[in-house]
Amino acid sequence: MRVVHSPLELQRLLKEEPKSVGFVPTMGALHLGHRTLIEAAKKANDIVVVSIFVNPTQFLEGEDLDAYPRKEEADKKVCELSGVDYLFYPTVESMYGTDEVSLNAPNIRGYIMEGTSRPGHFSGVLTVVNKLLNIVSPTRAYFGKKDAQQLMLIETMAANLFMDVEIVPMDTVREKDGLAMSSRNAYLNTQERVEALNIIKSLRVATQMVMRQECSVDEIREKMLEILVPLEVEYVTIVNRAFEPIEKIEIGNTIILVEAISGSTRLLDNIWI
Ligand code: PAF
Repeated sequence: MRVVHSPLELQRLLKEEPKSVGFVPTMGALHLGHRTLIEAAKKANDIVVVSIFVNPTQFLEGEDLDAYPRKEEADKKVCELSGVDYLFYPTVESMYGTDEVSLNAPNIRGYIMEGTSRPGHFSGVLTVVNKLLNIVSPTRAYFGKKDAQQLMLIETMAANLFMDVEIVPMDTVREKDGLAMSSRNAYLNTQERVEALNIIKSLRVATQMVMRQECSVDEIREKMLEILVPLEVEYVTIVNRAFEPIEKIEIGNTIILVEAISGSTRLLDNIWI
């Protein structure tokens, strides 16, 4: 595995690789969810590139940028053992200048749900993903469905900017008890982790209600909010796959999303119906 710090050097090295490239962008603190993305990238491509970059532009003032878990040595081991070919570890200075062309998230879909609680967050995500895709020029790039709004906005950006890349959505990987895997789970103390399980509980109850075909979107939301009481709920939203609000659940075209805070940790989860 080759560890590369310079964006231009990685770009040059990958230009010399006449092969299909699978790319897994991450912010590090790698867990089983990331390893699943890497495995999928390995299966479908000749070469796998993983980036680890805690991107400052997607953190708002007062958020956990400084505290975000950084596990350089452990992450390198995970990548090595997973058969990654190139690990890209850039510095902030090499990724950002001081007076930059900026990229904004779409005015509506970038400013609903997580975009309401974290205004500007998705502009930062799209900016860095755009840079990373330009550096790596992958054949395929892998993103988890847990961050469903991020995934939808990256797909939108790739289409809007006519990017020559296949965005591959990957199912959420869960702990044995159902908690969606996330680097931020490390912040939870025992009590907060138990309370966080209400998120998957609420999504499972919602799925059962949908399967019984006896309830409206409002009833499902109400039931979920009851289950989520121990947490500070940012939103429970039911949308179609285009992220438009819906009144009736349509199997195969619905996502139920939750963002809730346990202790001071923001947690996201969703179920694709
Ligand atoms: O999902 C993440 O880890 C980050 O938002 C991403 C896509 C790597 C961009 O910094």
